[in-house]
Parts: sequence; C-alpha cells; structure tokens
Amino acid sequence: MSKTPLRDSGPAARIAVIPGDGIGKEVTPEAVKVLRAACAPANRPLEFVEFDWGADKYLREGVSLPPGAVEMLRDEFDAILFGALGDPRVPSNQHAADILLGLRFKLDLYVNARPVELLHDRLTPLRDRTQRDIRCMVFRENTEGLYVGVGGFFKKGTADEIAVQEDVNSRKGVERIIRYAFEYAVRHGLKRVCMSDKSNAMTFAHDLWQRVFKEVKQEYPQIESRHLYIDALAMEIVRDPSQFDVIVTCNLFGDIISDLGAQLAGGLGLSPSGNIHPGKTSLFEPVHGSAPNIAGKGIANPLGSVLTAAMMLEFLGWKRESEIVVSAVKAALLNNYLTSDLGGTHGTKEVGDWLEKHVESHSA
Ligand code: NAD
Ligand code: IPM
Ligand code: MN
Repeated sequence: MSKTPLRDSGPAARIAVIPGDGIGKEVTPEAVKVLRAACAPANRPLEFVEFDWGADKYLREGVSLPPGAVEMLRDEFDAILFGALGDPRVPSNQHAADILLGLRFKLDLYVNARPVELLHDRLTPLRDRTQRDIRCMVFRENTEGLYVGVGGFFKKGTADEIAVQEDVNSRKGVERIIRYAFEYAVRHGLKRVCMSDKSNAMTFAHDLWQRVFKEVKQEYPQIESRHLYIDALAMEIVRDPSQFDVIVTCNLFGDIISDLGAQLAGGLGLSPSGNIHPGKTSLFEPVHGSAPNIAGKGIANPLGSVLTAAMMLEFLGWKRESEIVVSAVKAALLNNYLTSDLGGTHGTKEVGDWLEKHVESHSA
C-alpha cells in the first residue's frame, strides 16, 4: 500500500498539510505534533509543507484548488494530511467540491478506507457490545457514483424546474474497489467480505455492481462473500456489528454507512480515513467535517485526526511509529484524558499535548 518503500534513515517523507476550515484548523496541528514526536526519535524524517486552501482563501481571492496543485502534490509529496472543509459563508460548498473531491478524482484516489474499530468498550452506544464485536473496514468507492458532478438544471427557478444528478459507474471503477476489498481481506487474514448496493431499485448502475461482484468473488473462494442491500446493511450493522470484517460499497452509501459506523465506535471525533491509490500520493483525513457548531472553541476532539496520521504512517510503511501513535490514543481513552464529546473535560490542545508526551516517552 506504500507509495515508496522509505528506507530506515533514508529520505524524508514529504507531507502536504491542508488544515482547511473550522475544526480542521484546530485538530490538524495536534496530529502534526504527535507525528513529529513519533518519527523524530526513530530517525524517520518528516517534512511538512502547509497549504492555506479553504474558505478564507476562496472568499478572499476566489481560489479553491490553485492551478498546478494536483501535479505538485502528485510529484513532490508522499502523502497529504487533510483537516476538513466546509464553511457557512460558502453555502454552495464549491471550494470543498473543488479541493476535496477534486483531489480524490484528479489523484485517482479510488479507495476510501474507513475503519470502524471500537477502541474502548464503554464508547459504543450499543448495549453489551465489546471491542471484539466492532472491528471492520469499510471500503467506499471514491472516484465515481453520484459524486462526479454530472447533471444539471432545466427551467431552474421556475415551478417546472427539473434537477438531474447522474450516477456514474464504470466497470473499471467498480472492479478495482471490489478487488481491493478482497485483497485487503486476504492480506489481513479476514474471512468475510460484504458488498452492499441497492440493485433492487438502481437496476442499471447496481446491476453492474452485482455482475462484477459475482465475477471477482470467484477468484477468492477462501473468502466468505455476501451481499446486502444498503438499507438492510444499515439495520444489520446496528443489530450485530460482529458479522462484518470488510464492507465494500459505492461512494454515497459509503459516506453514509461510515458515519453510522463511526458512531458505533465512539463518534465522529474518533474516526480516521485514508483516500488511497496504492503506490501514489494519497490523502488522509478524519471522517468528520469542519463542525461549525464547535469551531473556534478549542474543544474539538483531535483523536480522529491523530488516528488518521497513524493510518498515513502505515501507508508510508512506518508500522512501528503508526502503532506507537495508536497506543497513545488508546492510553488517552484508558486514562480518560479526553474532550467533552467523549465525556472528558480537556481541550483540543491539552489532549494533543498529552498524546505528544505519551508518544515521546514510548518512542525509541
Ligand atoms: P461534522 O462532521 O462537521 O459535524 C457533525 C457533528 O459531529 C457536529 O455536532 C460536530 O460538532 C460533531 N463533531 C464532528 N467532529 C468532531 C470532533 N472532532 N470533535 C467533537 N465533535 C465533533 O458534519 P456536518 O455538521 O454535517 O458538516 C459541517 C461541515 O463540514 C459542512 O460544510 C460539511 O459539508 C463539511 N464536511 C466536510 C468533510 C470533509 O472535509 N471531509 C466531512 C464531513 C462534512
Ligand atoms: C466525507 C464528507 C464529504 C463526502 C463531503 C464534504 C463532500 O462528507 O468525506 O465523508 O461526502 O465525501
Ligand atoms: Mn461524510
């Protein structure tokens, strides 16, 4: 999954940092702090370059994703650490579409990996469920579907208005995400892959998903493959989350089911994700958004961003450092050194400082 096998004390990994809007600006610096603490003592040089892309720049200069940005990120960086985009002053969300969806599409980051993992029993809202029950990976197709922005208005603003939003599914796109899900299961010794669609209603787009799934699963007879309609999956994952190891689904359903999954494992404040194209510059971001309702208060939970940073380290091939960061998060959960969304009394920066110290005292 790594872009380049970085040698032990070899060249620095170059990380583009895009904090974005709202709480993205508050949690991302904490993740950077923890990354520095985990990597410096292990002689894993990290070089960070920050970009101020987001609502402020868009409103000030009319620039969302600057010209040449995609090529620069692709050619000069190993990975991107991203905060969140979204600002009430930009109701169209145009800058987020240009920057976030733009990078997913133009860097061809076709895997959106969103782990649903309960890190402490008391965090799940489900009765009598433990860490053993809630541990699966959601793979969301990330370059197609209803997100491609193909569509338009007819007679806009009149009583006869029509709005069309096309759902675009290519054989190549569907096949590569389904195959990735099976390969991931094989690599991680997992037994079950569940594909979820809505082929009973979306009889063209998801007929393609059905046919491709049937084909690809033949190549993995050792894996127990299963299909659930997305409405049934939403019900089953709440009824008994222990049924799932790997879930693979389309762009929009993956967006929805990953927020549901996040809540089963403690909430959006804790949930990481990776937008990945194996071997290429990939983008890592917490699942949550810019949370305008709490932005600027210093109370946002930084753990989602810190776990995202750990996913990025794993992508870079730095497994031990990644594990040290995850251990620090688990220790914060055990010690109840948390923000208010998880019942704690600490601020964003205080939690970041605690994690940094924990990592420093547990690194090589
Ligand atoms: P959101 O994830 O920003 O917030 C949902 C709820 O979860 C809010 O109550 C918020 O306070 C809480 N929350 C989220 N992250 C938290 C954290 N780290 N700590 C504590 N509480 C946290 O979703 P929303 O309110 O639907 O969207 C707000 C804006 O963010 C919108 O503009 C939306 O488009 C955007 N958004 C961006 C991304 C992204 O950049 N990847 C993802 C989701 C939403
Ligand atoms: C996410 C977000 C984005 C998405 C929005 C901001 C376009 O909700 O990353 O989950 O729907 O992909
Ligand atoms: Mn989302």
